Amino acid sequence: MDRDRALQHFLYYLPHHPALDGRSPITVLLGHTAPYAELVGHIQHMAASQDTLRFTAMALDESPTEALADAIVASDLFILFYDASTLANPRAEGPPFIRALQPVISEHWRKSLLFKDYGDYFYDTFSVEPERVADLNAALIRRMSEGEVLTFSDVHGSRFDASLRALKKWTNINGVGNYDLAPGEIATHSETINGHVKFVGTFLGTIPFARKYGVLESPLELWIENSTISRIATDVPGLEQDFSKYLDANPSNRRIEELGIGTNEGVKRLYARNAGFEERHCGLHLGLGGGAKGSHHLDLIFDSGTLAVDGRVVFDDRTGYVV
Ligand SMILES: [Fe+2]
Repeated sequence: MDRDRALQHFLYYLPHHPALDGRSPITVLLGHTAPYAELVGHIQHMAASQDTLRFTAMALDESPTEALADAIVASDLFILFYDASTLANPRAEGPPFIRALQPVISEHWRKSLLFKDYGDYFYDTFSVEPERVADLNAALIRRMSEGEVLTFSDVHGSRFDASLRALKKWTNINGVGNYDLAPGEIATHSETINGHVKFVGTFLGTIPFARKYGVLESPLELWIENSTISRIATDVPGLEQDFSKYLDANPSNRRIEELGIGTNEGVKRLYARNAGFEERHCGLHLGLGGGAKGSHHLDLIFDSGTLAVDGRVVFDDRTGYVV
């Protein structure tokens, strides 16, 4: 893969961030830990020939909290590269420098971009031509808006239907004008998901299911009635208990709040890093929770499967998108 090209795409998307609103020049803080020093150096090198984006780099684990906080406040956009879930001893609140900066990050979230646990998959995430992502998303949204029924099925025996007539507007995440820059997803909310799935894939969320269970090899079965999970079953040791505990913790956790379709053809497979880019993996993901106070958003990202509109396949994991 061409790493320079990936960074060119990243630098193309950046000025479209909603916090920037066409301003120029743009001052960008790159906060990073040691493993991301090379990536940050590469970004600065790639941006050297233009004068719209003005980057400053700071080490997150070596700089005083106050200096980092001041730099965040002064920036037009701040981008943080660090690991949390993939650390040897992860903590729910993240590494110490993130905990220390939490108030200023929360206050200024609108101009933040957090690349957490991306590792070198940052390059994969930005490897696809922006035009390809934009065209694919637009074509898919068009197909969905013209159809009646979306069907998901897979080789494990999963199947559910959702009415395409009673959907909220699709969110188009193509990197241009999104708060989360990682391109390649369309998402909506449906109240009419009905079926039975044998989920094989990985998790993404604040509760670290991904780190504990990795990429599932044996399915987590879910019975879905009107977008609510009514029953589950699995042979994976410990998972039924952990997942039931999650479902019972808040009524919204039992609800499929997000029907998501990843469209980033640069994300080649699932890694269970609990990193945001995995949600862009091509194919289906279902986001539970997050619709009510105290609930936790948890994405179930399917490793494989077929998506069809009115019986015509638009995506198959073996052949990719056909729209
Ligand atoms: Fe999503």
